[in-house]
Amino acid sequence: MNRSSEIKHQLANNPVLLAPMAGVNDPVFREICKGMGAGLTYSEMVSAQGLAHASQRTRELLSISDTEKPAAIQLFGSDPAVLAAQAHAVEDYCGDRVALIDINMGCPVRKVAGKGEGAALLKDTDAARRILQEVVQSVELPVTVKIRKGFERDDDLAVDFAKMAEDCGVAAVTVHGRTARQLYQGTSDRTVIARVKAAISIPVIASGDVWTPEDVLEYLQVQKADAVMVARGAQGNPWIFGHTLGLLSGEDPRAERTVTLAERITVAAEHLHGLAQRFPHRLSTMKKHLSWYFRGTTHASAVRRTAHSCGTVEDYEQLLDDIANWEADDD
Ligand SMILES: Cc1cc2nc3c(=O)[nH]c(=O)nc-3n(C[C@H](O)[C@H](O)[C@H](O)COP(=O)(O)O)c2cc1C
Repeated sequence: MNRSSEIKHQLANNPVLLAPMAGVNDPVFREICKGMGAGLTYSEMVSAQGLAHASQRTRELLSISDTEKPAAIQLFGSDPAVLAAQAHAVEDYCGDRVALIDINMGCPVRKVAGKGEGAALLKDTDAARRILQEVVQSVELPVTVKIRKGFERDDDLAVDFAKMAEDCGVAAVTVHGRTARQLYQGTSDRTVIARVKAAISIPVIASGDVWTPEDVLEYLQVQKADAVMVARGAQGNPWIFGHTLGLLSGEDPRAERTVTLAERITVAAEHLHGLAQRFPHRLSTMKKHLSWYFRGTTHASAVRRTAHSCGTVEDYEQLLDDIANWEADDD
């Protein structure tokens, strides 16, 4: 099987992926999503330059457990030689835990794009081409690239950019239908997916405004995407993966999708204890994860307020106990 058909096969098996999300996708959250039905899960974006300097914190971003493997590792950078060397190092370091290396060409934040990395590469096709060619040559693994519709607000360059990437030998292209200038605002243009799909023969993965199982279905059936990434729609809602697989397998779309408070507490506790044991320095990210897990419930604002002042595992455990008790008081 060549690299592209390997990926095609994986995506066909389960086309509902967890998108890369910096500051969100710790390995514990990724495992939770996997356990709830996610197909391929993506790491946070990892700086190739940071890896080259072997920072311990950066290496930690490469951690993929037995439960999660194989997962996708996403790299960002601007120097083709550094990216190629670090892609090779990731392949060596992660072994059969890594499914593919994804190159980030969509990150719009100033401290990335301002240095010629991430979405800045959409404006410099020659630099992007050199990166993709060198990385593809440096590893056995499939290499993929994640792009946006364009950089400037009215850009529409995904089709040409994806063709260039295909020519470089990448195994799949992910397209987020917003431009870099849009950041995460406004709506994502879904039709760009169908246009890219019609222009290239490698798999196309859709990203942008995936909030419900029906959004996934629309990307797959109408825009003809090979797979779909769930990003903000998975924050505090890893259940979306199971619900989506249910819909794709023909379950009644009106099937009950409510998640009980007890289920939220159980998953939040699993996340908390996973972080406490394995990544204690990331415990403070539970503040945002907790407010997401309880978003939309009666106690959402109280959880957000209290989580803000939590510091230790015990503080968070107390909050989870309190939520269970508030619920009991409501009964
Ligand atoms: C907090 C956050 C962090 C993100 N980090 C990354 C990242 O590291 N790499 C990447 O390619 N995209 C990243 N993204 C973009 C998402 O993968 C996705 O393409 C985008 O959010 C659009 O999908 P949505 O509208 O369904 O959220 C991030 C998005 C968010 C909200």
